[in-house]
Amino acid sequence: QEYEHEKIDYVFKVVVIGDSAVGKTQILSRFAKNEFCFDSKSTIGVEFQTRTVTINGKVIKAQIWDTAGQERYRAVTSAYYRGALGATLVYDITKRASFDHVARWVEELRTHADSSIAIMLIGNKGDLVDQRAVPTADAVEFAEDQGLFFSETSALSGENVESAFFKLLEEIY
Ligand code: GTP
Repeated sequence: QEYEHEKIDYVFKVVVIGDSAVGKTQILSRFAKNEFCFDSKSTIGVEFQTRTVTINGKVIKAQIWDTAGQERYRAVTSAYYRGALGATLVYDITKRASFDHVARWVEELRTHADSSIAIMLIGNKGDLVDQRAVPTADAVEFAEDQGLFFSETSALSGENVESAFFKLLEEIY
């Protein structure tokens, strides 16, 4: 890692949540390794990836946890959220149901995570413009209503992935 020789000032735990197949693992791989995998397998249990970044001259190690969207593969909820300072809540802009479930995921965060957690709502698969099923305005309205940050990303092209994570990490910092 590029910063391995440097002292780490802070470690921030961030969790990634949302329905199955919305692209949680691929967004994380794009941010942590600048990679995208076309035949991504469903996550089973919990995995995490890290990336060290510099914000305002401080070296911050983002430890980002990824779990399955599918209920039966999910890890123990309270342990997953414990100590998390930020969350990215992902839906798929081509799957209306994944957006309709966002309110439930917010509810889960409010129940299990620290009340001060910073939340970034992400509409992923922005590259699939012809298949859009969730208007940007609907998500903007929901995010404003719930006090969430919002971004539309594409893990495939990489668009806005970096800026969404940086915004969240800056907010935590
Ligand atoms: P679970 O582990 O089951 O919760 O799924 P997940 O949310 O982690 O989804 P994953 O990252 O495995 O991606 C699911 C599928 O969507 C894969 O086939 C990815 O290749 C595809 N995918 C992910 N992100 C994008 C994107 O930005 N654009 C497009 N076109 N496809 C994407």
